[in-house]
Amino acid sequence: MTTPAGDELAVGDEIEVVVGPVAHGGHCVARHDGRVVFVRHTIPGERVVVRITEGGPGDRFVRGDAVEVLEASEHRVPRRCPVSGPGGCGGCDLQHVSTEHQRTLKAQVVVEQLRRLGGVEREVVVEALADADGLGYRTRVEVAVGREGGGTPFVGLRKHRSHDLVPVTGCPIAHPRVDEGIAAAAQEAAEGGLEDAVAVDVVAASGEEDVALVEVGPQGRAQRITLTERVATPTGEREMSVDARGFWQVHADAPRAFVAAVLDAADVRPGERVLDLYSGVGLLSLPLAEATGPDGQLLAVESDPLALDHLAENLAEQRHAVVVPGRVDDLLGVPRQGRRRGQRGGRAPARSQLLPPSADVVVLDPPRTGA
Ligand SMILES: C[S@@+](CC[C@H](N)C(=O)[O-])C[C@H]1O[C@@H](n2cnc3c(N)ncnc32)[C@H](O)[C@@H]1O
Repeated sequence: MTTPAGDELAVGDEIEVVVGPVAHGGHCVARHDGRVVFVRHTIPGERVVVRITEGGPGDRFVRGDAVEVLEASEHRVPRRCPVSGPGGCGGCDLQHVSTEHQRTLKAQVVVEQLRRLGGVEREVVVEALADADGLGYRTRVEVAVGREGGGTPFVGLRKHRSHDLVPVTGCPIAHPRVDEGIAAAAQEAAEGGLEDAVAVDVVAASGEEDVALVEVGPQGRAQRITLTERVATPTGEREMSVDARGFWQVHADAPRAFVAAVLDAADVRPGERVLDLYSGVGLLSLPLAEATGPDGQLLAVESDPLALDHLAENLAEQRHAVVVPGRVDDLLGVPRQGRRRGQRGGRAPARSQLLPPSADVVVLDPPRTGA
């Protein structure tokens, strides 16, 4: 069988490559005959057989899966999840990599992004949180509900860049309580339940004894359930309320770590004026408000209706904290992402008077699409 030329690569072709650096997106970069191939389930330095899964002649690059490892990296380990790997669940990219080396690869991705997008040269160390082995940390998992041949329901996780589902009864990166919740959802589906659901959100909040299972119907319809989260801050434990389907940091130890890191970096002094943009339910707003004290001011900006009531409740005791509902881009009077000023449908409103012209500290924690 002849090897296709780089510009002729198409889905199903198999080629042998030596894999280059890791890239943003959970894959590594390789080249075949000058053509860029993004390869999943491999490690820099490995020689692998790649099966092309996406792209073809005319595309800038193609995507593929390492389906055979010819020369393995010393960092390769047996996958710790039975449904990860080529053709499997799209949730985890690095289950075949030792936990320590996963952190090295993640640091390399951050270094590269800072350099490429920000022109910043910076050494990055990814530190371990409470999950020393990289498993059992997710306090939130949404499983989708599928129907086998249109009939019996089952719960599953999505394949990479696909709507297809891999059936699951648990998930090794889920917190043990969430793992049990996924098993319970799978059982319910097998017994003919979850008839009207398209997904189930499984949530283990730190302030709740029971795991919450929220059935999600078509158009995202779901019951609103308020949960309590407990967060260790440098000045003591705080309780916050959050909707079971609202945003909360998914890693069990991330709230504590992010609060500590933000307070350390922002170094807020009493009396300062602080803006917390994309505030969610106020994980960062509350400790920032405590740091400014009553002589300062904290403005928390958030657009999600699921978060806003909880944000107000979580900041209720901070009389100098103000909730500003709305989109950050609209309030600042900048066109929404991807549209230029004056473009049809993209006209930016005037800058809102609700935001002050300046602040001493601005914290922003936008969603993945960016600020
Ligand atoms: C990554 S979360 C961070 C929340 C909070 N800092 C935390 O750690 O819990 C981003 C938040 O931004 C909100 N959001 C998304 N787009 C927004 C926008 N254009 N303007 C304001 N808030 C937005 C989301 O609803 C979400 O609560």
